[in-house]
This record gives sequence, structure tokens and C-alpha cells, in this order.
Amino acid sequence: MLEILTGNRVIPVVEIEHADDAVPLAQAIAAGGIGVLEVALRTEAAFESIRRIRASLPDLVVGAGTVQTPEQARQAIGAGAQFGMAPGLNRRIVSDFRERSIPFVPGILTPTEIENALALGCRLLKFFPAQAAGGIAYLKALAGPFGNLDLHICATGGIHPSNLRQYLETPLVWAVGGSWIATRQQITGKQWSAITTRAQQTVDQLPDTGRHEQS
Ligand code: 3PG
Repeated sequence: MLEILTGNRVIPVVEIEHADDAVPLAQAIAAGGIGVLEVALRTEAAFESIRRIRASLPDLVVGAGTVQTPEQARQAIGAGAQFGMAPGLNRRIVSDFRERSIPFVPGILTPTEIENALALGCRLLKFFPAQAAGGIAYLKALAGPFGNLDLHICATGGIHPSNLRQYLETPLVWAVGGSWIATRQQITGKQWSAITTRAQQTVDQLPDTGRHEQS
């Protein structure tokens, strides 16, 4: 799962209000050539959405995002989340996912937070909120002291079509994530073909090695 996850260079972050939208949304994203999805735990329907997507689209990698409490971690794992992500670093959550051998990507911002994450054995990290915190210039500065530690960063927060490629070409960055591919409004409006188009446009912007091949 770790290798599959790191093989994806763009991770749509979705907020699903109605579980009935989960499968059509996931199908729309997969039709655009993206093989992974982060369901943010910011709606009541999130856990059921993960469950339904896992049941209907076994080839899509589905994770839980915004995992901020051990209870959310427990429920996400129970719903079948194949990875977890969070804006922050919570030791309990790191160990809950590790006990189940499920990849977990905690959020970091500062050098101290990176060192704390490394001390917990985390090598996949989420840099959030990327743009507001200093963006690409900040990441390049981090690559000085942290460039040789086998770190892999997913940048989220303020990523959009005009800057995603630059992020992906920045040292340490394995992926970018965000809500621009399928916004909450597009999801509630069931704009599936528009979401597929955005996913396709995003895939077309990826450096060649980052293209996810649909089977
Ligand atoms: C996340 O959870 O990663 C962020 O909310 C994504 O940020 P964005 O909405 O700016 O893409």
C-alpha cells in the first residue's frame, strides 16, 4: 500500500456531504485517470463514503483525511481506509495506524515538527497549509537540513493547476493534494463530468513519471 500510495503524485481531497454521492464521485475521478482519493473526515457521511467506495471501486486507493482524533482513526480503519492523512501530528493516531500496518501521513510545518515525525518513524509527511506557510521557497529551504533523510512530502493547502507542477518538481515533494479537482460545491451539484475533466487536466500536467495508469 505504501508503494501504491507513493506511486500517485496527485491526491484529490474530497468532502462528501451525502454518501450517495461517494461512488459516482469516485468513478468520476477514476475516469479522469487518478487512482487515489482522500475522503476528508469533515462531514457525517465520510465513513460511509469510504465504505461504499471500497466496496464499489476496488482498484481505487481510498484514504481518510483530516484524521484528528483516535476515535476518527478507529472509525476510518473500520470503514476500510487504506491510508490516513492529517493536518497535524498526533502520536496516538500514528500508532493506531501503525498497529494495523496502514500508512499514515501526519501533517508538519516546522523543522521541529519534522524531527518529531521522524522520531515516530514517519517518512511520508503532509506539508499543510503549503501556500500560506511559504510554499515552494519554504520547501526548498527545508531540503537543506532534511534532504538526505528519505522524506516524502505531500503538499496541500492552496495547490491549484497553476502551481502544482512547480510543487512536484520541488525537492522532497512526492505528491500534491487538494480540493480543486472536486470541490464541495461540485460534489453536491453532482457535476461528475466537470470533475472528470479536471482530473484529466490535472493528470495531463503531471511530470511524465507521475502519470497513474488505469488498468
Ligand atoms: C487539506 O485537507 O489537505 C486541505 O483542506 C486542502 O486544501 P485546499 O482546499 O486549499 O486544496
